[in-house]
Amino acid sequence: MAAWYSLIDLVLARLDAEAAHGVALRALKSGLLPADRRADSPSLAVRVWGRSLPNPIGLAAGFDKNAEVPDALLRLGFGFVEVGTVTPRPQSGNPRPRLFRLDRDEGVINRFGFNSDGAEAVLRRLALRAHLAGIVGVNVGANKDSPDRVADYVRLIETFAPLASYFTVNVSSPNTPGLRNLQQGHILDDLLAKVIDARERVREKAGDTPVLLKIAPDLSLAELDEVVHVARSRRVDGMIVANTTLARPSTLRETARAKEQGGLSGRPLFRLSTRMVAETYVRVEGAFPLIGVGGIDSGGAALTKIRAGASLIQLYSSLTYKGLRLVEDIKTDLASTLLRTGRETLSEIVGADAATITAEDWPV
Ligand SMILES: Cc1cc2nc3c(=O)[nH]c(=O)nc-3n(C[C@H](O)[C@H](O)[C@H](O)COP(=O)(O)O)c2cc1C
Repeated sequence: MAAWYSLIDLVLARLDAEAAHGVALRALKSGLLPADRRADSPSLAVRVWGRSLPNPIGLAAGFDKNAEVPDALLRLGFGFVEVGTVTPRPQSGNPRPRLFRLDRDEGVINRFGFNSDGAEAVLRRLALRAHLAGIVGVNVGANKDSPDRVADYVRLIETFAPLASYFTVNVSSPNTPGLRNLQQGHILDDLLAKVIDARERVREKAGDTPVLLKIAPDLSLAELDEVVHVARSRRVDGMIVANTTLARPSTLRETARAKEQGGLSGRPLFRLSTRMVAETYVRVEGAFPLIGVGGIDSGGAALTKIRAGASLIQLYSSLTYKGLRLVEDIKTDLASTLLRTGRETLSEIVGADAATITAEDWPV
């Protein structure tokens, strides 16, 4: 297994970023990566939304946009996988190049713009795996040229409810013009009301599918106040904090690449997104759990995100730099930290540092 990892990592490090992603997907599809990993430590198990997850580490949206390899990813050791963003109708997204590596910063900029095979194709793939175990969430978004974006979300909830372990309502991609406006108080309220209504309409045949809201790390604290207020009053089941940022931290070393338009992720997003997790955590007051995502590239970073307020975490960009073994490395680190500190589960430290983090200077 280790040899395969090294070989694939070597290939990926030398390819154009989007081509590398295609190679990774094909390798996973071919079953080239054998599943000989160890079972997760029982201390890493998490219970959330009435479900048990073997560990809290998820693959973030955007890697498996079209649900081609969720089970291969679960076999690699992720505790859950989020597919999508899926749009109702197929669309090709923005012209290439649209994915850029900021190597010296261990960051990524993407402006894919929701390239999606569309709901029908993704539904067909998920139906084929419906008999299999494992948490597979579906991240939903609107078509770029949609005349009624709210209706797009509603349609996707109705379509995917029988097959989704949870939904992510993605209103935070920076690459679909105007999408982030859906985070504005009254617009978000209308969207979430209709999405939750849709979930209730199909509850009898599809069960009680959790609905999560994924937000941008670029919200002001006043905007975050409003978003959390609406999310709580509409009783969403969780929030994912956060998507990519439009900001370009002054510390970036790849200054030419940093000028590319799109959302920045990876290590340069870590501080801002962790701050947003803590800010969200203190506002949510335990009403629902958070998934923390942004720049997690080690066990230490995962732990910081959890202590900021994340019950679950997700990652994507760091896989480009650290390779697929990162998932096992993080799990080993988390389990040994628990053992060393005499704690039985990670839930004991969720949010332990939220107050401290929110009191620090704003990350720039
Ligand atoms: C290439 C790429 C594509 C992405 N596509 C999506 C997407 O379709 N939907 C979404 O909600 N987030 C998408 N994201 C954002 C990630 O899910 C995640 O929120 C963000 O990258 C921060 O995590 P990271 O620093 O671990 O990558 C994408 C990120 C990258 C790098």
